Amino acid sequence: MRLDKYISNNTSLSRKDVAKQVKLGNILINGKKAKSPDEKIDENSSQITLNGKVITYSKFVYFMLNKPQGVVSATTDLKQKTVLDLLPSEYKKLGLFPCGRLDKDTVGLVILTNNGVASHKLLSPKSGVEKTYLFQCAEDILESDIKNIEQGILLRDGYVTKPCKIVLSNKKEGKITITEGKYHEIKRMFGATGNKVTFLKRISFGKIILDEQLNEGEYRPLTMNEVTYFER
Ligand code: URA
Repeated sequence: MRLDKYISNNTSLSRKDVAKQVKLGNILINGKKAKSPDEKIDENSSQITLNGKVITYSKFVYFMLNKPQGVVSATTDLKQKTVLDLLPSEYKKLGLFPCGRLDKDTVGLVILTNNGVASHKLLSPKSGVEKTYLFQCAEDILESDIKNIEQGILLRDGYVTKPCKIVLSNKKEGKITITEGKYHEIKRMFGATGNKVTFLKRISFGKIILDEQLNEGEYRPLTMNEVTYFER
């Protein structure tokens, strides 16, 4: 594997950053200064250090993406831009997929990974992972609507949603925290009260919080702490 790929997959450094660090002489391969970012290393046996710290190899990779509107949460689509199209093409071969789906017009936090087992565990209804969204509705939201949604509301298809938490910031906007991920769930919850969601942004998934530094369309690798949560 290339040195820059190894480091960018296992740290928050981009390949450009790796090239800089190589030039500065901060990266050692088995104790010797790396000569170039495309140097070949053995991910199973080479010891790679950056400023004296060992960079450990992870079979899996994880990215946080701030999804813009108009992009679908899929791995491929013949006609529409997918969340994977927002990453450099060299990442395509890593086998990444989005951990859970956001609607095409929903923005915000999407985790991209190739760890199917961890992703499946966190998405399972049993896991009860909290997902928080900022929302805006077309009409004023009544106190009674909040109560009805919070305690679990009957959707048109007969499904009753799990209890959730809503905090309003004004009559039309607020934060909602849900623990499941049914199709169009939040839109259908407000729809059941006769309202309409006009904006939706996911800001957290369990303990992973959307990085405010990321503009829409931007991504970064998960930090070690975030990965630990993801793999728990
Ligand atoms: N609920 C929705 O209605 N849409 C999303 O994208 C996510 C949750």
